Amino acid sequence: MTRVIIYSGKGGTGKTTISAATATLLARMGRRTLVLSSDPAHSLADALGVEISRDRPTLISPNLYGLEVDTLYEWRQNLSGFQQFVTSTYSNRGVERSTAAELANQPGLDEILALQRVMAEAQSGRWDAIILDTAPTGNTLRLLAYPELIIGGDVGKKFFRVYRGIANVARPFRRDMPEDRFFDEVSGLLEKMERLANFLLSGDVSLRLVLNPEKLPLLETRRAYTFINLYGLMLDAVMVNKILPRRSDLGPYFDYWVALQQGYLEEIDTSFTPTPIFRTVLQEGEPIGVDALERIARATFGEADPGAMLFEDRPIWLDQWNEEGQPGLFDLCLRLPFIDDSDDIEIVRNGTDLTLTIGRLHRTISLPRILYDCILGKNRYEDGVLRLEFFENPSSDQSERTPKSADNMRVEAA
Ligand SMILES: Nc1ncnc2c1ncn2[C@@H]1O[C@H](COP(=O)(O)OP(=O)(O)O)[C@@H](O)[C@H]1O
Ligand SMILES: [Mg+2]
Repeated sequence: MTRVIIYSGKGGTGKTTISAATATLLARMGRRTLVLSSDPAHSLADALGVEISRDRPTLISPNLYGLEVDTLYEWRQNLSGFQQFVTSTYSNRGVERSTAAELANQPGLDEILALQRVMAEAQSGRWDAIILDTAPTGNTLRLLAYPELIIGGDVGKKFFRVYRGIANVARPFRRDMPEDRFFDEVSGLLEKMERLANFLLSGDVSLRLVLNPEKLPLLETRRAYTFINLYGLMLDAVMVNKILPRRSDLGPYFDYWVALQQGYLEEIDTSFTPTPIFRTVLQEGEPIGVDALERIARATFGEADPGAMLFEDRPIWLDQWNEEGQPGLFDLCLRLPFIDDSDDIEIVRNGTDLTLTIGRLHRTISLPRILYDCILGKNRYEDGVLRLEFFENPSSDQSERTPKSADNMRVEAA
């Protein structure tokens, strides 16, 4: 079994540093470890302070291998027909070939190609642990959750079948009909995406979100947290990086920043408990090279095993009760095992966020998109789970609602 850990988060928060640090420590613990990056900048090589190959894993130190996934290479290997079709279609419309090539690179697809490389490495049986440094933000995960969205679902699949027939007949007459290779690649891609989604949902794979104690990363991470949990991916840790040290010699200029960070650190606790939260202090100087990375990993993980599945519960999920075609009726379920039955539950809705106050406990979560327009109903607490009832607003346009549009909403919710 290969343990796969994917670090995700906004740029600059420290994903590459934390990924490389985790990998370094695992390797020092004797596990055969591969750290990969899909960042086109050579960031992994920069953090580790060594050259890293773009096609095969490079040995960095005992048990530690690195690979900078060349998504352009993987893309050409897997999707040259797709790219050629899009490129030629756009250049027929007067778009420069170089620009058209850029357009052919669907947003999120290069991340998917990197994930596919991770899957292949995991299935090779060569590794105890694989660490991926990447940014599967909401968008990439959305593509994975609904691979058929790339070409428009079942409708898209049917369209392809019909279109391919037409293309065969019409090719002699029309210039911008794609070649067969295009269709083969797209259907091959869809199959691969399905396999990839199953791989990511398997019990050995987890995501960890990296953020800094600042407003925007916190808001984005909250949304990602809800989405990832609803999607059913394992999210086993939240990593808070670049925390200012508490030192008396920092002076009044930093007092402001330390106090501000303190506020966000508390908000981070109330947003992501019971998921384990690990904290990393802003170092004196950039942590570069395996020694500095090992130190930072030890300080961050303490006694915990960085390669373990650190949390396996699902803290948030959505139960849907409505009949096909009927207005939505949902239970947003929050696992809160530590509530006292006698505690009052106060729920405040603030735009797309929900803040719960239960006794001394505060909890802020981002609502899933499907609940944005829903009305909050009753709540009940049973077996350690708080169930919040939501129903679709009857004043919004219900008359036109068909099973089809309910389906669309479900897709959007992700
Ligand atoms: N805890 C830390 N202390 C000091 N510098 C850090 C820390 N974490 C990251 N850095 C530095 O911050 C910069 C951005 O980090 P990086 O890991 O490349 O972020 P990301 O991959 O999320 O864009 C790098 O120069 C890195 O060395
Ligand atoms: Mg990076």
